[in-house]
Order: sequence, then structure tokens, then C-alpha cells
Amino acid sequence: MCGIIGYTGNKEAKDILLQALTLLEYRGYDSAGIAVSDEESKKTQIIKCAGRVHDLEEKCKEESNHSVCGIGHTRWATHGRGNDPNAHPHPGGSVTLVHNGIIENFKELIQEFHLKGSLKSETDSEVAAAIINTLYQENGKDIKKAINEAISKLKGTFALVILVEEEPDTIYSVRNVSPIVATLCDEGAMLASDVTALCQFTNRYFVVPEYHILELHPDCLHLWNLFGVEKEPEYLVADWELNSAEKNGYPFYMEKEIMEQPKAIEATIAPRIKRGLPDFSVDKVPDSVFTKCDRICVVACGTAMHAGLVFQSLVKSVLHMHIDVELASEFMYSDPVIDKKTLLIAVSQSGETIDTLEAVKYARKQGAKSLAIINVKGSSIARESDYVLYTNAGPEIAVASTKAYTTQLAMFYLILARMAYLKKIYKPKETKAFISELSKVPEAMEAVLKKRHEIHVAAREVLEAKDLFMIGRGLDHSLLLEGSLKLKEVSYIHSEAYASGELKHGPIALITDRTPVVAVATQEKILHKEISNIREVRSRGAKVLIFVKEQFAKDLEKEFSVIKLPNARDEMMVFSASVALQLFAYYVSSDKGFDVDKPRNLAKVVTVE
Ligand code: M6R
Repeated sequence: MCGIIGYTGNKEAKDILLQALTLLEYRGYDSAGIAVSDEESKKTQIIKCAGRVHDLEEKCKEESNHSVCGIGHTRWATHGRGNDPNAHPHPGGSVTLVHNGIIENFKELIQEFHLKGSLKSETDSEVAAAIINTLYQENGKDIKKAINEAISKLKGTFALVILVEEEPDTIYSVRNVSPIVATLCDEGAMLASDVTALCQFTNRYFVVPEYHILELHPDCLHLWNLFGVEKEPEYLVADWELNSAEKNGYPFYMEKEIMEQPKAIEATIAPRIKRGLPDFSVDKVPDSVFTKCDRICVVACGTAMHAGLVFQSLVKSVLHMHIDVELASEFMYSDPVIDKKTLLIAVSQSGETIDTLEAVKYARKQGAKSLAIINVKGSSIARESDYVLYTNAGPEIAVASTKAYTTQLAMFYLILARMAYLKKIYKPKETKAFISELSKVPEAMEAVLKKRHEIHVAAREVLEAKDLFMIGRGLDHSLLLEGSLKLKEVSYIHSEAYASGELKHGPIALITDRTPVVAVATQEKILHKEISNIREVRSRGAKVLIFVKEQFAKDLEKEFSVIKLPNARDEMMVFSASVALQLFAYYVSSDKGFDVDKPRNLAKVVTVE
């Protein structure tokens, strides 16, 4: 969703802002804009438009003035359409601002501040600009006082980044829930909605605490609490290389990120294996977190929720423990049963998904312990949770999640093994055997990546499809839910994943001549039933492609189109099958000529409910 950048320093601000907005494009947006301060005239110039950052760049070329301080924004429409007037930044007298989040009481504020008739856009954000300006003028042009007063009136979530004409080299910011990170580096002081925009300059950054005012100058920054006391920023170091958010020769980030998975899995598991056993001491997660709970509740959205479903299958079969996997967006409104004996596991790549964040806050109120599986260091969910396990996947830029998913799975596999070990369900030798198989996953993934041309050829068969079905049983079904989401979000083909045994209870009515069906068959104990279900759809005309564990392929390849997946212990097959399905979705999308990384209507970071 909306992206924010702010810069003040010794370089041309426009260039830095546009470059950062390009890096933030992945978050999803429908308009973009910048505002730059002019030291001499003490005026703020706003350039904005509906469309892409590229359109904004073209518009900026028409303006030749020079500035070293400015703010920028990509907007994902919530209040009002994605048109020019609604694009940020928004002016309000001397104040110009960009905003992420939703100001819920903006209508009441329009009344209170008599703004009716004076606003140029349909946005809640312009209301914030107008209010801060009014309070700024009323408070003898004391901007910090004005911000302080303004935020006491705002209900909802916000990250506000503010320029005032009288201070042309200074940027102010304040936030509630919606994130802002900031840094000071050789080029100047910067802030952004996420660290991706900063990591071309530095990997040192801090998260601006909620309800603190950040003040950026070209050579220093100050952080104030609302009582005017200066606070020391708590810097974090992203273990991402400075070029890790670049495409490195790949046509799309999605392909690059699929290819990075063997390394990403290695980075997730290696630090957490000690003497062959899973070990979370590096994360300071005590064993009591796993031994003192009698129930697990996983909350997450989209792909992250699908990772939870794989874990659920394994927890049931290995730990025989009660586990629920909840869609975070439904969780809060479903009267969830959470108590002190529940371990709440929140899963999120971005760490900013608002529904998941709210679920963690709720769990805390109920006295439950929360453990977060997160990719982005210092993100809101990470800070809100009692314990955090970082997946170390590096920045994931493509909207369609790939390496975040498989590293979340790997983390779940480590948790499963640790719990089985602690509960003495696995003996040390069995635990080591499980971990040793998990350590072979990167190699298995490499083998699938080498088959990408074969998968590409198979993908060409479905380019014209309107509907497609994915079928499998047990773990295969769980991973197909994710495979199906991947295909629909990047290729716009209507795809449904079904548990194969469920077909004859309804969905098989949709199978007609040449309907594409993708099956996954990797689980020995249900293989024969799965093959029967595959034959049932084939008998009704379906065109079937099977991703099958190599050792089961012998008979199937005589009858069906198959792609063989390297042999591994059944539980571990999820990884290579997932890579195969990601590649399948990727090739369908790229062959159809879509912008794979930025599927329509989607945002990478979902910060509204
Ligand atoms: O950042 P999160 O992991 O919390 O995001 C959750 C979902 O929005 C995300 O997984 C989404 O489903 C992806 N687009 C899937 O590719």
C-alpha cells in the first residue's frame, strides 16, 4: 500500500525521491507525487499525477528547479479514486504532507475545522494537512506544537510526513500504527515507509516509535516524545546487502526471488541448527514457549496463512496437538478462544499486515504468549510480539510471495522438530534425522530450478485457460492452496485448489473437456487414492498435469503429463513442489505479457483492514 519517502541532504532531492519511489512501487499504488522545498523562495513545489512513477518522472522533467529537501508518496486509493487531485502530497497553507493509513474521523474534523468547500481532494489526508496548518498558524508557527495538537484529534492510523515552507531544509514526521523508518547517512537524513527505500544508501535504520515527532535536518536528526523530551533512536542493522533490492539481471523480481530460495532456506535454518538439533537460542526464544502451551493458534493472511496450514497438518500428525489456523482478517470478529495456555503464532513477511497485528494485540490482552515469524526486522508485528523468529529471506519485492513462503515453512519445520524433541515425541536421533532431511531442502530446490524450462513448456498449455483446478491430498492440498493463489494473483486465471477427495462432493461438476487440472502427488500413504481421483477428472475430459515425487512417477508417466520432483522424505516434498508451482505461475504470467511483479489491484504491504 502507500509508499513514503522523505529526504534532506546534499544531493538533488527529486532524483533521490524518484529513485526511492521506484523501489517502493512494489507496495502497490495508483498515483504518485513529490513535494520539494525551495530554500530561496521558501515555497514548496508539488508535482503529482495518477499512474506510475514513470509518469511522475516525465512530469518532473518539465520542472527545472533545484532542491535538496523533499517528500514523496505512492498512493493506494482508500478515500477517493486514484486521480491527480487525490494523489499526495497535499497542501494546506504553509504545510504540505503525505500520509499513510486511514483517518477515520475525517468527516467530523471537516466540520470542526470548518473545512467544507476549501478542500481540493476527496482524501482524509488533505484534512490532516489543513488541520496542521490551522494549528500551526494558531500556535505562532510552532510546527511541533501544531503536530502534537493535531494528532490528539486524529482517530485511526497514520504516518504523516510534513514540510513547512518556513523551514525548507527540515522534514517532520509522526505516526500511529502505520510504519516509518529513518536513518542518517553520508547523503543526508531520510525516512521511508519501509527499509527497502533506504537500503540503497545504508542498512542502518531505526523504526520511529509511535507518537514521537521525528525532525530531519541535512546533517542530523532529532526524535522527541510528546512531552518534548529528546529520545535516542534505537538503530537496527538489516542483514540485507545494499543491492539486494535490485533485479540483478532478472526480468522480474518474482523470478529472482524464486531463484534465491535455496540460499534463503539455508539462511533461515543454518543459524538455528546446533549439533544437528533445532535450537532457537540465537533468537532468545525459551523452550518454555513451546512446552507451556496446550494449544497453538496461527494467525496470518494470504500466503503466510497457507504456510500455517502446512504446519497444522504436521502438528496434528506429529505432535497430536490442538492447533487452529485463522485468517487474521476474520480472527478478531470470530470470538476467538485464546487464553494463557495458547501459543499464538503470527506469520507475516512484511510484519505490517494490520489484521495480523491486531490479532497479536488481542492475544496479549487475553494473556497468551505470541511468537512472530517475520521477514522484516523491526516491523510492527515483530515489535508487538513477545518473541520473534526472523526468516532471513532478504527483501521480497514482488507482490507474489515466494521465498517468504518457503522460509516461513522452513521456520515452521524447525519449530515442529523442536517441539517434537522437547515433548519427547522424537528421540534425539529422530530429531537429527528430521533436521538432516530439512538441510537437504536447498539442494532439492536447486534440482527443481534446473527443471524450469520443462515447467515453462507445461505452463504454455494453460495460457488460454479461463479456469483451472488444482487437486491433491493432505500436505499436497495445503501447498496447492498456495500454488493456486500464486497462479490467480499473477496470471488472472481463475484457479481453485481442492482436496482431491472432495471433488465428487461438488466441484467435479465443473470439469469438462480440456479443463486444465494440476495435481500434486508426493505423499505415499495417500498416493493410490490420489491417483484414483486424478483418473476421475481425466475420465471427464480434464487435461491433467501432475507434479509427482520421482519414485512414484513410473506408472503415471505412461498415462499423464508429469513433472518429476526429486525424492525426499514425504514431509519435505512441500518445498520442491512449492517451487515448481511458483515457476508454473510465473511462466504463465510472463508469457501472457503481464507485469508479473505488480499484479492489478494488489499491494505488497496491507496496512488497512
Ligand atoms: O506481509 P504478509 O505476509 O503479512 O502479507 C500477507 C498477504 O497479504 C500476502 O501473503 C499476500 O497473500 C501475497 N500477495 C501472496 O502472494
